[in-house]
Amino acid sequence: MLRALGFGQAVNQYIDGAILEVGVWRGGTGCLLAMSAPEKSVYLADTFEGVVKPGEKDTCYLGGEHADTSAQIASGLLASARADNVRLLKGIFPDETGDEIQGPISLLHIDVDTYQSAKDIVEWALPRLPVGSKIIFDDYGFYECAGITRLVNELRKLLHNFDFFYNLNGHGIFVRTRVCAGTTALASGVN
Ligand SMILES: C[S@@+](CC[C@H](N)C(=O)[O-])C[C@H]1O[C@@H](n2cnc3c(N)ncnc32)[C@H](O)[C@@H]1O
Repeated sequence: MLRALGFGQAVNQYIDGAILEVGVWRGGTGCLLAMSAPEKSVYLADTFEGVVKPGEKDTCYLGGEHADTSAQIASGLLASARADNVRLLKGIFPDETGDEIQGPISLLHIDVDTYQSAKDIVEWALPRLPVGSKIIFDDYGFYECAGITRLVNELRKLLHNFDFFYNLNGHGIFVRTRVCAGTTALASGVN
């Protein structure tokens, strides 16, 4: 949570689109994002039942971690911060709740701990990210999140229309520099 205090710097009100965080847990980082951008619509998506989609690329996570929360706990924190620009999405994102969001995304914070979970979110988001938008990955380079580090390193080779930055807080940050016509997908190599 302390690592996320710089999030406000990442919010750019002049980039069109909502803010989306996937991986909310009790709402700490989501609350910071919402308070940093009161004029934006903010979506905070979590199963509120713990981490999902663990696989062999994830060396520590087995699934179900961080289940010690609820939508009520996150709502309570948001209410105490008077963050009323937020909508909570309960369920696996994007599989169960991606359809709840229409329009572009200006800032996407991915804090989900496993490779496949993060990859599915990126696939969903790519066609929705305008020039200037950002994807921020939590836990890049952290031992416990080998799957996230692996995915970010793969994306650094695949995402040709993004600049990449890394800060020592463990944030891997992609900034969209161009949008290509046609398919925007990881598999196509055109994104
Ligand atoms: C490390 S916690 C998030 C911590 C939070 N960002 C903070 O700093 O307080 C990871 C969360 O990701 C959620 N999660 C993982 N994959 C998900 C997915 N595909 N859809 C929704 N929630 C997911 C888990 O339920 C868990 O609460």
